[in-house]
Amino acid sequence: MKIVLVGYMYAGKTTVGKRIANMLNFSFVDTDKRVEEICLQSVEEIFDRVGEEYFRQKEREVFLSLLKEDNIVIATGGGLPCYKDNMNLINLYCKSIYLELSPAQIFSRLNKSNNIRPLLKNIKSEDRLEFIETSLQARESFYRKADITLSALSINKEELEKRINELFRRL
Ligand code: S3P
Repeated sequence: MKIVLVGYMYAGKTTVGKRIANMLNFSFVDTDKRVEEICLQSVEEIFDRVGEEYFRQKEREVFLSLLKEDNIVIATGGGLPCYKDNMNLINLYCKSIYLELSPAQIFSRLNKSNNIRPLLKNIKSEDRLEFIETSLQARESFYRKADITLSALSINKEELEKRINELFRRL
């Protein structure tokens, strides 16, 4: 069993993914972190030095290699499900969870964060909400293919356990 978390930046995929992995005693991998380990550079450095397209290829390679593993929870970067046929592969081989947040909620988390992701870094603060709205709209059709959707704002332990059981019942 492989569980994959998808959703926009700042949805909390890593935090929730780790909690699910702990609950199930599964291993946990964050695709961004794995790419950084392989490339020996931060995601930001990869975007700056070799560009987004190279990063997309690397994150796909990482994802494909993780398909060989089992009993694993995978937190994906926000763009991964929207590149090539990644989302179809996710649903073919894994159970998927969309962590949903509205553009306003994403914007509010971004403003509280001290880690401004590369895609947002070069966008003026006053234009960021609009960028989030437009890019989330473009990405949502991919995210919505996930097996279940969870509101990223209200994830308590009971709700999480209930929804994970739901995923297992769908096996
Ligand atoms: C990206 C999201 C980031 C990271 C990269 C690109 C995106 O991951 O993969 O900065 O395109 O949405 P998080 O979703 O974990 O922030």
